[in-house]
Amino acid sequence: MNNYIVITGASGGIGEASAKLFASKGKNLILVARREQQLNEIKANIQTAFPDVDVVVKAFDLSQIEQLPKLYQELTQYPIETWINNAGFGMLETVKEHDLDRVLSMIKLNIEALTVLSVLFVKDFADVGGAQLINISSGAGYNIAPMATTYCGTKYFVSAFSEGLAHEMKMTGAKLQVKVLAPASTKTDFAKTAMQDDSITYGEDSLYFSKFNTAEEMAEFLYQLYTSDKVVGLVNHETFTLSLLDPQFKHLYA
Ligand SMILES: NC(=O)c1ccc[n+]([C@@H]2O[C@H](COP(=O)([O-])OP(=O)(O)OC[C@H]3O[C@@H](n4cnc5c(N)ncnc54)[C@H](OP(=O)(O)O)[C@@H]3O)[C@@H](O)[C@H]2O)c1
Repeated sequence: MNNYIVITGASGGIGEASAKLFASKGKNLILVARREQQLNEIKANIQTAFPDVDVVVKAFDLSQIEQLPKLYQELTQYPIETWINNAGFGMLETVKEHDLDRVLSMIKLNIEALTVLSVLFVKDFADVGGAQLINISSGAGYNIAPMATTYCGTKYFVSAFSEGLAHEMKMTGAKLQVKVLAPASTKTDFAKTAMQDDSITYGEDSLYFSKFNTAEEMAEFLYQLYTSDKVVGLVNHETFTLSLLDPQFKHLYA
């Protein structure tokens, strides 16, 4: 049965919560991230709760761009239904404060890895009925956010690339559905990584992270997008509610 769902960045946060939700719906999973121990713990928890679900763990650093075709070949030995490019990170600071190596790592993961895996998936699955490619962008991929200029740039790429691909699928009569989820602030390790500060917490006293969705709420939003015919799942950064929408960017010929 073609029901494996690949989730990158599944060792925590939105990816982990989504893995648990898709497992509860009976989907087999392929979980990708760097931290193998976390992935194995998540696999064990899922298989205790849902013994019929198969979970494949793949520890991999997605910023190894040259190795991605090999990873893709390995994972597509399984019958895949949906590929979710979720792995990503942010940098919350001014451009002047950026460390160049970290900027390049962010571009590699948020843009290059997502693009390579999307292109490979589209080549094989464009004409496969029921197949989906879902890329995780951000509200920062539809708005410019303070202290997040470069991160916004990477996520605008994700939004524009994914919307463009969705148009391309429609215009060529392809069966693959391409979608993009744009979360608002979500309580995960995102803030700690983006601020490079392990003491950062979410909550009323937090300067930047006083309001947020939980990772479980975001997984529910992802699932709603997955079950809908819409292309964009946009989470409002004031109400923290999901809107399922048609592509948001102007398309010159659509
Ligand atoms: N949380 C938010 O407020 C928010 C808002 C909008 C959009 N987003 C987007 O949502 C997605 C998920 O983020 P999150 O909030 O769940 O953050 P998170 O808790 O920090 O999770 C990030 C995931 O990406 C994985 N990852 C990071 N670098 C990787 C690499 N080089 N190779 C493979 N996997 C890697 C991490 O696992 P390992 O460390 O084990 O590799 C982890 O599983 C990201 O694309 C983020 O930009 C988040």
